[in-house]
Amino acid sequence: MESDGFVDSGDTPVAGAEAKVITIANQKGGVGKTTTAVSLAAALAQLPRRVLLIDLDPQGNASSGVGIRAHDAALTVYDILLDDVPMEDVVEPTALRNLFLVPSNIDLAGAEIELVSAFNREQKLRHAVASVREDFDLIIVDCPPSLGLLTVNALTAADGVLVPIQCEYYALEGLGALHQNAELIRSNLNPNLDLTGYVLTMYDGRTRLSDQVVHEVIEYFGDRVFHTRIPRSVRLAEAPSYGQPITVFDPGSRGSVAYHRLARELVDRLDRAEHVTRAGGDPS
Ligand SMILES: Nc1ncnc2c1ncn2[C@@H]1O[C@H](COP(=O)(O)OP(=O)(O)OP(=O)(O)O)[C@@H](O)[C@H]1O
Ligand SMILES: [Mg+2]
Repeated sequence: MESDGFVDSGDTPVAGAEAKVITIANQKGGVGKTTTAVSLAAALAQLPRRVLLIDLDPQGNASSGVGIRAHDAALTVYDILLDDVPMEDVVEPTALRNLFLVPSNIDLAGAEIELVSAFNREQKLRHAVASVREDFDLIIVDCPPSLGLLTVNALTAADGVLVPIQCEYYALEGLGALHQNAELIRSNLNPNLDLTGYVLTMYDGRTRLSDQVVHEVIEYFGDRVFHTRIPRSVRLAEAPSYGQPITVFDPGSRGSVAYHRLARELVDRLDRAEHVTRAGGDPS
Protein backbone atom coordinates (compact mmCIF):
# COMPACT_ATOMS: atom_id res chain seq x y z
CA MET A 1 0.00 0.00 0.00
CA GLU A 2 1.34 3.43 -0.96
CA SER A 3 1.54 5.84 1.91
CA ASP A 4 -0.12 8.61 -0.06
CA GLY A 5 -2.95 6.18 -0.74
CA PHE A 6 -3.99 6.64 2.90
CA VAL A 7 -5.53 10.01 2.24
CA ASP A 8 -8.77 8.91 0.58
CA SER A 9 -11.38 11.58 0.19
CA GLY A 10 -13.51 11.57 3.32
CA ASP A 11 -10.67 10.27 5.49
CA THR A 12 -9.63 12.24 8.51
CA PRO A 13 -6.51 14.21 7.68
CA VAL A 14 -3.54 13.83 10.02
CA ALA A 15 -2.97 16.75 12.34
CA GLY A 16 0.41 17.53 10.78
CA ALA A 17 2.82 16.49 13.51
CA GLU A 18 4.48 13.08 13.43
CA ALA A 19 2.68 10.16 15.03
CA LYS A 20 3.37 9.33 18.64
CA VAL A 21 4.24 5.67 19.10
CA ILE A 22 2.70 4.07 22.20
CA THR A 23 3.80 0.56 23.09
CA ILE A 24 1.50 -1.63 25.18
CA ALA A 25 3.76 -3.87 27.26
CA ASN A 26 3.74 -6.16 30.27
CA GLN A 27 5.60 -9.44 30.10
CA LYS A 28 2.94 -11.10 32.20
CA GLY A 29 0.49 -13.08 30.05
CA GLY A 30 -3.22 -12.39 29.82
CA VAL A 31 -3.31 -9.00 31.58
CA GLY A 32 -5.25 -7.26 28.79
CA LYS A 33 -2.48 -5.96 26.51
CA THR A 34 -4.17 -6.99 23.27
CA THR A 35 -7.67 -6.06 24.41
CA THR A 36 -6.31 -2.64 25.35
CA ALA A 37 -4.31 -2.24 22.12
CA VAL A 38 -7.29 -3.13 19.91
CA SER A 39 -9.99 -1.29 21.88
CA LEU A 40 -7.89 1.81 22.48
CA ALA A 41 -6.78 1.95 18.84
CA ALA A 42 -10.43 1.70 17.73
CA ALA A 43 -11.58 4.34 20.21
CA LEU A 44 -8.78 6.68 19.10
CA ALA A 45 -9.75 6.13 15.46
CA GLN A 46 -13.29 7.20 16.34
CA LEU A 47 -12.16 10.41 18.10
CA PRO A 48 -11.13 10.76 15.22
CA ARG A 49 -7.39 10.22 14.95
CA ARG A 50 -5.53 8.34 12.23
CA VAL A 51 -4.28 5.23 13.96
CA LEU A 52 -1.92 2.45 13.01
CA LEU A 53 -2.06 -0.70 15.14
CA ILE A 54 1.10 -2.80 14.93
CA ASP A 55 0.70 -6.43 15.99
CA LEU A 56 4.06 -7.54 17.34
CA ASP A 57 2.88 -10.81 18.85
CA PRO A 58 3.17 -14.15 17.00
CA GLN A 59 -0.23 -15.07 18.49
CA GLY A 60 -1.71 -12.53 16.04
CA ASN A 61 -4.55 -11.66 18.43
CA ALA A 62 -4.53 -7.95 17.66
CA SER A 63 -4.81 -8.77 13.94
CA SER A 64 -7.76 -11.12 14.39
CA GLY A 65 -9.24 -8.67 16.91
CA VAL A 66 -9.72 -6.15 14.11
CA GLY A 67 -10.96 -8.83 11.73
CA ILE A 68 -7.77 -9.60 9.83
CA ARG A 69 -6.30 -13.07 9.79
CA ALA A 70 -2.83 -12.85 8.34
CA HIS A 71 -2.72 -15.96 6.16
CA ASP A 72 0.50 -17.44 4.93
CA ALA A 73 0.90 -15.41 1.75
CA ALA A 74 0.22 -11.99 3.22
CA LEU A 75 3.03 -9.68 4.20
CA THR A 76 3.34 -9.32 7.97
CA VAL A 77 5.47 -7.56 10.53
CA TYR A 78 7.92 -10.47 10.16
CA ASP A 79 8.79 -9.26 6.65
CA ILE A 80 9.46 -5.79 8.05
CA LEU A 81 11.77 -7.02 10.81
CA LEU A 82 13.61 -9.79 8.99
CA ASP A 83 13.46 -8.91 5.29
CA ASP A 84 13.52 -5.11 5.46
CA VAL A 85 10.20 -4.83 3.60
CA PRO A 86 9.01 -1.18 3.93
CA MET A 87 6.25 -0.77 6.47
CA GLU A 88 3.98 1.03 3.99
CA ASP A 89 3.86 -2.18 1.92
CA VAL A 90 2.53 -4.12 4.90
CA VAL A 91 -0.04 -1.65 6.29
CA GLU A 92 -3.62 -2.79 5.65
CA PRO A 93 -6.87 -0.88 6.10
CA THR A 94 -9.41 -2.35 8.54
CA ALA A 95 -13.20 -2.21 8.43
CA LEU A 96 -12.99 0.77 10.77
CA ARG A 97 -12.38 4.15 9.24
CA ASN A 98 -9.05 5.70 10.32
CA LEU A 99 -7.77 2.40 11.73
CA PHE A 100 -4.95 0.58 9.92
CA LEU A 101 -3.07 -2.57 10.81
CA VAL A 102 0.37 -4.10 10.42
CA PRO A 103 -0.56 -7.76 10.89
CA SER A 104 1.33 -10.59 12.49
CA ASN A 105 1.04 -14.33 12.44
CA ILE A 106 2.87 -17.35 13.79
CA ASP A 107 5.84 -16.73 11.44
CA LEU A 108 6.93 -14.13 13.95
CA ALA A 109 7.59 -16.85 16.53
CA GLY A 110 10.99 -17.49 14.92
CA ALA A 111 11.88 -13.81 14.89
CA GLU A 112 13.12 -13.67 18.48
CA ILE A 113 15.86 -16.10 17.51
CA GLU A 114 16.42 -15.02 13.91
CA LEU A 115 16.88 -11.41 15.01
CA VAL A 116 19.71 -12.30 17.39
CA SER A 117 22.33 -12.21 14.66
CA ALA A 118 20.81 -9.28 12.74
CA PHE A 119 22.57 -5.94 12.46
CA ASN A 120 20.89 -3.27 14.59
CA ARG A 121 18.52 -5.92 15.82
CA GLU A 122 16.94 -3.72 18.52
CA GLN A 123 16.21 -0.86 16.12
CA LYS A 124 14.47 -2.67 13.25
CA LEU A 125 10.98 -1.51 14.20
CA ARG A 126 12.11 2.02 15.03
CA HIS A 127 13.64 2.46 11.57
CA ALA A 128 10.62 0.92 9.84
CA VAL A 129 8.17 3.12 11.72
CA ALA A 130 10.03 6.28 10.73
CA SER A 131 8.74 6.01 7.14
CA VAL A 132 5.05 6.04 8.17
CA ARG A 133 5.09 8.44 11.12
CA GLU A 134 3.81 11.28 9.00
CA ASP A 135 0.79 9.28 7.84
CA PHE A 136 -0.71 8.80 11.30
CA ASP A 137 -1.50 10.61 14.52
CA LEU A 138 -0.92 7.61 16.76
CA ILE A 139 0.79 4.26 16.39
CA ILE A 140 -0.14 1.58 18.94
CA VAL A 141 2.12 -1.47 19.31
CA ASP A 142 0.85 -4.70 20.89
CA CYS A 143 3.65 -6.75 22.50
CA PRO A 144 3.96 -10.45 23.27
CA PRO A 145 4.12 -11.58 26.91
CA SER A 146 7.91 -11.54 27.17
CA LEU A 147 10.80 -9.11 27.47
CA GLY A 148 12.58 -10.57 24.44
CA LEU A 149 13.80 -8.84 21.30
CA LEU A 150 10.29 -8.17 20.00
CA THR A 151 9.36 -6.17 23.09
CA VAL A 152 12.80 -4.51 23.04
CA ASN A 153 12.07 -3.44 19.44
CA ALA A 154 8.69 -2.09 20.50
CA LEU A 155 10.19 -0.09 23.37
CA THR A 156 13.02 1.21 21.21
CA ALA A 157 10.50 2.45 18.63
CA ALA A 158 8.22 4.05 21.24
CA ASP A 159 7.65 7.53 22.56
CA GLY A 160 5.77 6.07 25.49
CA VAL A 161 4.94 2.79 27.14
CA LEU A 162 1.50 2.03 28.46
CA VAL A 163 1.33 -0.83 30.96
CA PRO A 164 -1.92 -2.71 31.55
CA ILE A 165 -2.17 -4.12 35.07
CA GLN A 166 -4.75 -6.77 35.76
CA CYS A 167 -6.70 -6.28 38.99
CA GLU A 168 -5.68 -9.59 40.51
CA TYR A 169 -3.40 -11.04 43.12
CA TYR A 170 0.32 -10.45 42.36
CA ALA A 171 -0.65 -7.62 40.00
CA LEU A 172 2.67 -5.82 40.52
CA GLU A 173 4.81 -8.93 40.15
CA GLY A 174 7.27 -8.67 37.30
CA LEU A 175 6.88 -4.92 36.83
CA GLY A 176 10.36 -4.38 38.29
CA ALA A 177 11.88 -6.29 35.39
CA LEU A 178 9.83 -4.29 32.88
CA HIS A 179 11.02 -1.03 34.45
CA GLN A 180 14.64 -2.19 34.40
CA ASN A 181 14.34 -3.05 30.73
CA ALA A 182 12.72 0.28 29.94
CA GLU A 183 15.49 2.06 31.85
CA LEU A 184 18.20 0.17 29.94
CA ILE A 185 16.52 1.02 26.66
CA ARG A 186 16.18 4.65 27.69
CA SER A 187 19.88 4.94 28.53
CA ASN A 188 21.23 2.94 25.58
CA LEU A 189 18.82 3.05 22.68
CA ASN A 190 15.92 5.45 23.07
CA PRO A 191 16.31 8.45 25.41
CA ASN A 192 12.80 9.63 24.42
CA LEU A 193 11.01 6.67 25.99
CA ASP A 194 8.44 8.01 28.43
CA LEU A 195 6.23 6.15 30.86
CA THR A 196 2.83 7.06 29.50
CA GLY A 197 0.95 5.33 32.28
CA TYR A 198 -0.59 2.30 33.90
CA VAL A 199 -4.07 1.08 33.07
CA LEU A 200 -6.01 -1.07 35.51
CA THR A 201 -7.81 -3.83 33.63
CA MET A 202 -10.49 -6.40 34.48
CA TYR A 203 -11.62 -4.32 37.42
CA ASP A 204 -14.49 -5.89 39.31
CA GLY A 205 -16.09 -3.46 41.74
CA ARG A 206 -17.85 -6.31 43.56
CA THR A 207 -14.63 -7.82 44.87
CA ARG A 208 -12.46 -6.46 47.65
CA LEU A 209 -9.43 -7.81 45.82
CA SER A 210 -9.94 -5.45 42.87
CA ASP A 211 -10.12 -2.46 45.20
CA GLN A 212 -7.03 -3.61 47.08
CA VAL A 213 -5.10 -3.83 43.84
CA VAL A 214 -6.28 -0.39 42.74
CA HIS A 215 -5.19 1.02 46.08
CA GLU A 216 -1.79 -0.66 45.90
CA VAL A 217 -1.12 0.37 42.31
CA ILE A 218 -2.08 4.01 42.98
CA GLU A 219 0.11 4.00 46.09
CA TYR A 220 3.05 2.81 43.98
CA PHE A 221 2.58 4.79 40.80
CA GLY A 222 0.49 7.79 41.86
CA ASP A 223 -0.74 9.96 39.01
CA ARG A 224 0.91 7.70 36.45
CA VAL A 225 -2.19 5.52 36.84
CA PHE A 226 -4.93 6.40 34.37
CA HIS A 227 -8.17 7.45 36.09
CA THR A 228 -10.11 5.24 33.70
CA ARG A 229 -10.39 1.66 34.92
CA ILE A 230 -11.34 -1.07 32.48
CA PRO A 231 -14.15 -3.18 33.96
CA ARG A 232 -14.24 -6.94 33.74
CA SER A 233 -16.85 -7.53 31.07
CA VAL A 234 -17.96 -10.59 29.17
CA ARG A 235 -18.63 -8.41 26.10
CA LEU A 236 -14.94 -7.46 25.97
CA ALA A 237 -14.00 -11.13 26.04
CA GLU A 238 -16.54 -11.97 23.31
CA ALA A 239 -15.63 -9.23 20.83
CA PRO A 240 -12.43 -10.85 19.44
CA SER A 241 -14.28 -13.94 18.24
CA TYR A 242 -16.36 -11.64 16.03
CA GLY A 243 -13.25 -9.89 14.73
CA GLN A 244 -14.54 -6.54 15.96
CA PRO A 245 -13.21 -4.04 18.47
CA ILE A 246 -15.60 -3.57 21.40
CA THR A 247 -16.44 -0.04 20.19
CA VAL A 248 -18.00 -1.62 17.10
CA PHE A 249 -19.18 -4.93 18.57
CA ASP A 250 -21.14 -3.34 21.42
CA PRO A 251 -20.69 0.44 21.36
CA GLY A 252 -22.86 1.09 24.43
CA SER A 253 -21.27 -1.57 26.64
CA ARG A 254 -19.30 -0.67 29.77
CA GLY A 255 -16.09 -1.90 28.17
CA SER A 256 -16.60 0.26 25.11
CA VAL A 257 -17.42 3.34 27.19
CA ALA A 258 -14.31 2.74 29.31
CA TYR A 259 -12.00 2.47 26.31
CA HIS A 260 -13.48 5.65 24.80
CA ARG A 261 -12.71 7.38 28.11
CA LEU A 262 -9.21 5.95 28.14
CA ALA A 263 -8.62 7.20 24.59
CA ARG A 264 -9.65 10.71 25.61
CA GLU A 265 -7.46 10.55 28.72
CA LEU A 266 -4.48 9.35 26.69
CA VAL A 267 -4.83 12.10 24.11
CA ASP A 268 -5.13 14.71 26.88
CA ARG A 269 -2.01 13.35 28.59
CA LEU A 270 -0.03 13.38 25.38
CA ASP A 271 -1.17 16.94 24.62
CA ARG A 272 -0.14 18.06 28.10
CA ALA A 273 3.27 16.38 27.81
CA GLU A 274 3.78 18.00 24.41
CA HIS A 275 2.88 21.37 25.89
CA VAL A 276 5.40 21.00 28.71
CA THR A 277 8.10 19.83 26.31
CA ARG A 278 7.47 22.77 23.96
CA ALA A 279 7.62 25.13 26.91
CA GLY A 280 11.04 23.67 27.72
CA GLY A 281 10.00 21.83 30.87
CA ASP A 282 10.41 18.25 31.91
CA PRO A 283 7.33 16.17 31.03
CA SER A 284 8.06 13.53 33.66
N1 LIG B 1 -11.74 -6.20 30.73
C1 LIG B 1 -11.89 -7.48 30.42
N2 LIG B 1 -12.98 -8.17 30.84
C2 LIG B 1 -13.12 -9.48 30.56
N3 LIG B 1 -12.24 -10.19 29.86
C3 LIG B 1 -11.13 -9.57 29.42
C4 LIG B 1 -10.90 -8.18 29.66
N4 LIG B 1 -9.71 -7.85 29.12
C5 LIG B 1 -9.24 -8.95 28.55
N5 LIG B 1 -10.08 -9.99 28.72
C6 LIG B 1 -9.90 -11.37 28.28
O1 LIG B 1 -8.80 -11.90 28.99
C7 LIG B 1 -7.97 -12.67 28.13
C8 LIG B 1 -6.58 -12.04 28.07
O2 LIG B 1 -6.69 -10.75 27.52
P1 LIG B 1 -5.68 -10.24 26.41
O3 LIG B 1 -5.54 -11.21 25.31
O4 LIG B 1 -6.07 -8.85 26.07
O5 LIG B 1 -4.35 -10.21 27.29
P2 LIG B 1 -2.83 -10.15 26.79
O6 LIG B 1 -2.08 -9.47 27.88
O7 LIG B 1 -2.76 -9.56 25.45
O8 LIG B 1 -2.45 -11.68 26.71
P3 LIG B 1 -1.07 -12.26 26.11
O9 LIG B 1 -0.07 -11.99 27.17
O10 LIG B 1 -1.35 -13.72 25.90
O11 LIG B 1 -0.78 -11.54 24.84
C9 LIG B 1 -8.67 -12.70 26.79
O12 LIG B 1 -9.46 -13.85 26.73
C10 LIG B 1 -9.54 -11.45 26.82
O13 LIG B 1 -10.68 -11.57 26.01
MG1 LIG C 1 -1.84 -10.30 23.72
